[in-house]
Amino acid sequence: MCGLVGYIGDREATPILLNGLKRLEYRGYDSAGIAVLQNGNIDVLKRAGKVNDLETLSALHPFASTVGIGHTRWATHGEPNDQNAHPHVDHTGTIALIHNGIIENYSAIRRRLERDGIEFKTDTDTESLVQLISTFYDITGNLEQSVRLALKEVDGTYGIAVISSREPGKLIAARMGSPLVLGINDGEYFVASDASAIVHHTRQVIFLEDGNIATLTRDGYEVKTIGDEAVEHKIEQITFDIEQIEKGGYDHFMLKEIHEQPQTIMDSMRGRILKDKGTAKLGGLRDVVSALEGARRIIITACGTSWHAGLVGEYMLEQYARIPVEVEYASEFRYRSPVLTENDVVIAISQSGETADTLAAIREAKLRGATVLGICNVVGSSIARETHAGVYTHAGPEIGVASTKAFTSQLVVLSLLTLMLGRTRGFISLDEGRKFADELLSIPDKVREILEKADEIRELARQIHTANNALYLGRGYNFPTALEGALKLKEISYIHAEGYPAAEMKHGPIALIDENMPVVVIAPQDRIHEKVISNIQEVRARKGKVIAIVNRDDSTIEELAQFVIEVPTTVDFLSPLLTIIPLQLLAYSIAVFRDCNVDQPRNLAKSVTVE
Ligand code: F6R
Repeated sequence: MCGLVGYIGDREATPILLNGLKRLEYRGYDSAGIAVLQNGNIDVLKRAGKVNDLETLSALHPFASTVGIGHTRWATHGEPNDQNAHPHVDHTGTIALIHNGIIENYSAIRRRLERDGIEFKTDTDTESLVQLISTFYDITGNLEQSVRLALKEVDGTYGIAVISSREPGKLIAARMGSPLVLGINDGEYFVASDASAIVHHTRQVIFLEDGNIATLTRDGYEVKTIGDEAVEHKIEQITFDIEQIEKGGYDHFMLKEIHEQPQTIMDSMRGRILKDKGTAKLGGLRDVVSALEGARRIIITACGTSWHAGLVGEYMLEQYARIPVEVEYASEFRYRSPVLTENDVVIAISQSGETADTLAAIREAKLRGATVLGICNVVGSSIARETHAGVYTHAGPEIGVASTKAFTSQLVVLSLLTLMLGRTRGFISLDEGRKFADELLSIPDKVREILEKADEIRELARQIHTANNALYLGRGYNFPTALEGALKLKEISYIHAEGYPAAEMKHGPIALIDENMPVVVIAPQDRIHEKVISNIQEVRARKGKVIAIVNRDDSTIEELAQFVIEVPTTVDFLSPLLTIIPLQLLAYSIAVFRDCNVDQPRNLAKSVTVE
C-alpha cells in the first residue's frame, strides 16, 4: 500500500521525509521519491527500489529545503519504475503531488488534457490529477483553490499532498477514502498516510475525514471541506506505539487484512462495473477479448489459496459464461505434458505474481500456443510481465503470510470476468446482469456486517481451539470455500484440517467423525441447501460437533448445529465472498488461542519462488 509524508517548518526537510518513508516501509512498496522546494524550484528525486536506494541518491544531490513531500509507491497503474514513482510534477514544472488511492476517471481526464496539448510523462492515474490541478492553477494562481476545483472532477479515492514553487510556504493535503493524518508541533506541521511516519516528531494529530482539505503553512493550519466550508476538527494525542500503528490498531497484520476486505473488495471492482449495461469492463483484457469469448476451453492454473479462487472461477464461468473450464495445480500442469491449442485460454492466478510453479506453468502454456492471462495482485511482477494480458486485483500489499484479502479480490476479478463473458456470450440477460452488478456492489457492506461478528467467532474459537483435527464441508460454490477454510486453519494454527465436498464425506472421511471432531459446514440457502442439510444429519448421527455457516433465520440448521454463524444472502456465485470471512476469523482466533505466530507461520513463505 502506498505511503506518504509531508513536512513544512524550519528544519531540513529531506531527512525528515526519508525517515518518515522508512517508517512506512512495512506497508509494502516498490519505489520511493521526494520533492522539495529549493531556491524557487521544485526538485524531485525518485526511483524504483528501496528507500535506502533513494537515500543514497539523495546523498549525491543534497537539498537545502524546509518544505517537501515524500512517497512510497505500491504500483497499481503502470509498472513500478523510476518514471512512474511519485512525486509527479505538472507539465510546467511548478506543482508536485503525491497520491495514495486510485483515480477512477483518470483516462477520461488524461484524454481531455492531451487533446489540449499537455504531454504526459508516466502511465499513472496520479499524473492526470497533477496536470488537472495545473490547468486550474493557470487560471486561479491559487494552489488550494486549484486543488479543490480539480478534486471536484475526480472519481475515486485519494490521500494527497501537494506543493507549488509559486507558493513555497504552503503544503496542501486532501483526503477521500485514503487515510491522512496531520501532525502538529511548534512552528512545524506534518502530513502522513499513517501516524507511524511522524510519531517520533509529534504525538499531536488531527485525523482528516473524507472530503477534508487542509492547508499547512509555518504559521498554522486550516481544515475545510473540499466545498470550501469550515469543518470541526479535533486535536488528538497519540498514545499507541509504532508497532500498533503499523498494524492499524489490530494485533496482527492478518487480522488487519481480514478487516480491510470491505475496502479491498471495493477497490477490486472500482471503475470496472457498468451498472446500466449490466456488465463489467476489464481494461487489461481489451486486446484478448475475442480470444476469451471464442475460447474452446479455459484452464485456470495456480497454487494454494489462488488455486481455490480458481475453483470458484470454474463454477462461475461454466454456469454463466458456458465455457468449459479446468483448474490445475500449476505444479502438476507444468510437468504433465498438457494438451493445449491456440483456442485455449490459460489464466494464471497469483497474489505475488512470483510463484515459481505458476510462472513455469505460464511458460509451458505459452510454448504450446495458448493465450495466457494473469490475475495478479503485484503490479509489474514476473507473472504480470510474462502473460499476454491480465487484470490486477488491487488488494494492496498482503503482509500476513496466510492469504485473506488477496483471495477475496481474486474472487471479485473472476466474478467480473464471468459477468463480462456471460453478457457478451448471451448467457446473462441485461436484467440479470444489472442484478449481478448491484449484488457485487453490495458485497462490501455485507462483509462489514460479518466482521461485526468477530467476538462471537472468537468465543467459538475458544471452545474448539484444543481440537486436533477439523473437517470443512461445502457444496457447489462453497466446496472451494471449505478447502480454503481448512487451509487457513491448518497453516496458521497447525491443526490438521481437511476440506471436502459435503456429499463426498460418506466415501471416507465420515470414519473420522466422533464427538471430538469439529465439522464446519458451509450451508447458505442455495439450490443444494436441502442436500447439505442431509449431510449435516449424517455428521450429527455420529456425534460430530457441527458449526454451520448459514443465511439468516435458517431454523432447520439452527436446530441441528451446535454453533451457527449467520451471513447475509447474495446470489449463488458471490456466496464465497461472504462465507469465507467467518472462516478466516475462526482460523485467526483459534491460532491466537493456541499462541501461534499468526503472521509468520512456521515453514511458510509469503512468496514461493522455488519449486
Ligand atoms: C495460503 C497462501 C498460499 C498462496 C500460494 C500461492 O494462505 O497464501 O497458499 O496462495 O503460495 O501464492 P501466490 O498467490 O502468490 O501465487
